[in-house]
Amino acid sequence: MAELSVVLRGADAILPYGRATVDLGINTAGRIEAVGEPGSLAGRRIVDVAGLIAIPGGVDLHVHINTFFGGTTTRDDFFGGTAAALHGGTTTVAQFAIPRLGETSLDAINRTQAEARPAVVADYAVHGAMVRDSFEASLGQLQDFASAGVGTVKIFSAYTDVIGLSLGQIHRLLRAAAERGITIFVHAETDSLIHEATDEVVARARLRPVGHAESRPPLAENDALRSISDLARDAGAAVYFVHVSAAESVATLADRKAIPGSPLFAETCPHYLFLDASKYEDPVGQRWICSPPIRSAPDRAALWAGLIDGTIDTISSDHNCFDIAQKDAGAMDFRAVPNGLPGIETRLPLMVGAAIDGRLSWLEVVRASSVRPAQILGCWPRKGALAVGADADVVLIDPVGTTDLGATHMTTDFAPFAGLQASGKIAFVYRRGELVIAEGELRAERGSGSWIPIGPGTGRREAPAGRA
Ligand code: URP
Ligand code: ZN
Repeated sequence: MAELSVVLRGADAILPYGRATVDLGINTAGRIEAVGEPGSLAGRRIVDVAGLIAIPGGVDLHVHINTFFGGTTTRDDFFGGTAAALHGGTTTVAQFAIPRLGETSLDAINRTQAEARPAVVADYAVHGAMVRDSFEASLGQLQDFASAGVGTVKIFSAYTDVIGLSLGQIHRLLRAAAERGITIFVHAETDSLIHEATDEVVARARLRPVGHAESRPPLAENDALRSISDLARDAGAAVYFVHVSAAESVATLADRKAIPGSPLFAETCPHYLFLDASKYEDPVGQRWICSPPIRSAPDRAALWAGLIDGTIDTISSDHNCFDIAQKDAGAMDFRAVPNGLPGIETRLPLMVGAAIDGRLSWLEVVRASSVRPAQILGCWPRKGALAVGADADVVLIDPVGTTDLGATHMTTDFAPFAGLQASGKIAFVYRRGELVIAEGELRAERGSGSWIPIGPGTGRREAPAGRA
């Protein structure tokens, strides 16, 4: 056995196939070298972690750091965004490289790399993205994505007036992606249905935040899920539906995922699980404007059930670090509010709380917040597993502590979950064997995160199941 630099002794660990009290041995390369009986491993440094729960570092597939969107730019940079991720136990993030006006997809990928590499403290992957204005040029670049380490591409079926694609464009992309083993991430809402609903809402002068929710009905999401999953099957392409929010969408996904053929994956986000549409009646309800909107209690219940039965694969943050000034600029007209919520730091603590409170099993929480995201990226079990050979990304949780979700390190004065406490507190975070968070203190050097290239054919490996 290679020399162990650190032994985490007596961890109450969520291993790939169940929960066990173990020693986790970390080698000098930052990988897990051994998993043994408590007290069985020797190393240069022994850290007694008895009583702490160990889970794999979080993998957040959906972040928008330093992103121009809705006429403004999210507030964080790659240092601030990934530092907040580490505070919240997320050691790997995947950023969308969305082309700005005049950029192709490869331009945006290169710009994102140039911004991220010197600054990141979490490990990171880059998703490509294709937008309306540069669609033809970007489609012609698809063959170069593999050498750029990009195996996933995001598109929007909404926002067709700025960045969204038509169904015809989506079908062309899906066919080309199928040939290259690229997984297409889709923001699925049918734009014409949003326009129809928006016109009605505006005609009734409902411009306050409740109007936003009314302008983006579940029908628009479900319609897009149905049509794009049909296109995916026709093309033989793998599709990942981002930020699924509504009960009827969960039912559609369950049906469509059962049809053999092209793989379909689905994500939801903590704000759809833990908040509801009453937020839009708040005097400052504009701060919770995101798309799709936060929905009703039955929608929430369907999402939780979908997580348990596997219809929903992942929990991602859809992190958009807007601040109060940016959100409040549209207080009197929801159309002027930039869409999206900060959440890179609160995603995993909320899910840890769900495990401690017994709402989900630990394996279900780890599956949705680390395992499936890593599989869909194609980097499991290197990421998302407490197993021999995996990167030693380890989150140690004090199960009797609590997390105040109103106090975060994100580069914003807005905390969407303020007022909520999550059960459990992240005590220590190791990233590739290095202690990067210790009792709330960041220890990672700027630029010390590693890039994770994404290969073709992601997401095909099976996730462990069970209710540990
Ligand atoms: O409201 C959201 N989700 N904003 C981010 C961009 C998008 O729509 O995915
Ligand atoms: Zn979206």
